[in-house]
Amino acid sequence: MGTFYVDSYNDYPDTSYIKIPTNPLERVIGQDDAVKIAMVAAKQRRHLLLVGPPGVGKSMIAQAMSFYIERPTEEIRVVHNPQYPERPFVEIKTREEVMAEREEETSTSGIIIDPKDAPTSVAERLGYRCSKCGFYSSPSDAVCPNCNSPKVQMGTQGPFGDVFNVIGAAFGVQNNLDKVTLTRRNGDHDEIIVYERYNDKIRVLDEKTLERRRRLEKKSPSKTIVPIDRNPFVLATGASETELLGDVRHDPYGGHPQLGTLPYERVIAGSVHEAHQGVLFIDEITHLGNLQRYILTAMQEKSFPITGRNPQSAGASVRVDKVPADFILVAACNINDLPYILSPLRSRIVGNGYEILMKTTMKDTEENRMKYLQFISQEITMDGKIPHMTMEAAGLIIEEGKKRAKIIDKKNNELTLRLRELGGLIRAAGDIAVFKGNKLIEKEDVEEAIKLYVPVEEKITKEYGSMAAAYSSENTTSQKDFYNYNLDDRSYE
Ligand SMILES: Nc1ncnc2c1ncn2[C@@H]1O[C@H](COP(=O)(O)OP(=O)(O)O)[C@@H](O)[C@H]1O
Ligand SMILES: [Mg+2]
Repeated sequence: MGTFYVDSYNDYPDTSYIKIPTNPLERVIGQDDAVKIAMVAAKQRRHLLLVGPPGVGKSMIAQAMSFYIERPTEEIRVVHNPQYPERPFVEIKTREEVMAEREEETSTSGIIIDPKDAPTSVAERLGYRCSKCGFYSSPSDAVCPNCNSPKVQMGTQGPFGDVFNVIGAAFGVQNNLDKVTLTRRNGDHDEIIVYERYNDKIRVLDEKTLERRRRLEKKSPSKTIVPIDRNPFVLATGASETELLGDVRHDPYGGHPQLGTLPYERVIAGSVHEAHQGVLFIDEITHLGNLQRYILTAMQEKSFPITGRNPQSAGASVRVDKVPADFILVAACNINDLPYILSPLRSRIVGNGYEILMKTTMKDTEENRMKYLQFISQEITMDGKIPHMTMEAAGLIIEEGKKRAKIIDKKNNELTLRLRELGGLIRAAGDIAVFKGNKLIEKEDVEEAIKLYVPVEEKITKEYGSMAAAYSSENTTSQKDFYNYNLDDRSYE
């Protein structure tokens, strides 16, 4: 036991003193080659295939790559096509254009004022002010809450004149206007000024604002399907076809101009589009089966059409061509699954990227033990519900890591990198410490957790008869899941 306490980390009182890197790639321990290549791939926009058993850091690396990726510069929209609504156009807006538009939008919103600050005639005609008693109330009140008289708009020259107003008020019909236009003298010309209802306030639009509004309204309506402010990391785990490739929602009224929603409004982006200019991470890529060929197409074209994927749906007749899908593919799989990756997809990745075999163990050196401590500290910090660990307890985790390298990977003097499982052990020990009311996870808590949750050797020999049997079972599909469940996917969460 004493051999675990080398001077360098004997200095720490407990694991809370161990610094955690802010850079997410530096939090990945023991996979130095993979981390280096991932960094290059992110900067150079290359694809990546991460091969290895569960829980060694594949997802972690994929996610961390987005740390090195430039933020997206393009927003993707679909625009109504008046000639042929079922073929909406695609429109790309740069970040600058999006920002300029946002500015323009705020400059068309006019000035919001209190009804009391508007000319009384305007406040009356918009239904805020009672023309009898001068009381201000919501335009949705047809009758003045103060004097009970109908809010009649004098001077409103509807076809029924004031008679209608009176009758209307009696029936609870609102008959006040939602817009009043006035002209006012500005220097040597008359200027139009519009007052609009805006909840319990009034919006005032001058001529310049109105002009800008008219320009905006002339544009074809559009919908943003991939916004400029988006996460450049998109996870597609065993995604459904529509999730992966996009869809056009069904509308029972189809494209009926009055009843239905216009086709462009029903277009939804898929993961391949959301990952445009970012990372598309596909965990267990072989689970996609046939869908792999769509990924390949998207990678070749750097775009993918969006169409309604349910043939029974009204969306099926809608199609948007050439929707950008220029992503970095990061795919992950087990060694056993390699033959099931669509071979042109795999050669596409290799042709413009890297394949990485993840490590399952690392040498038991002082430096790597420090990394283990960093890992322990990370797991505890990320969990947030358990206390830190004494150095003695951490030494036991390291010992367990060494044991596992020997048992699972048959490596002497190495430390396991199947760290998801080890994280589970740390959390289990943490839960025991919390249960006991300990301020730190003690050695005894780790011992107890090992006994309760991870008697690895016993379990394996019990389930398989021998380690050799356990390994050979990895090759048969029927037992593979069983093996994975027991060895790799065990989680204590
Ligand atoms: N190399 C590693 N360094 C640090 N932590 C790791 C590493 N590998 C796994 N972990 C821990 O295990 C968890 C699961 O790892 P993950 O990246 O999802 O594994 P994989 O994708 O290979 O199945 C991570 O969130 C992290 O807490
Ligand atoms: Mg994963």
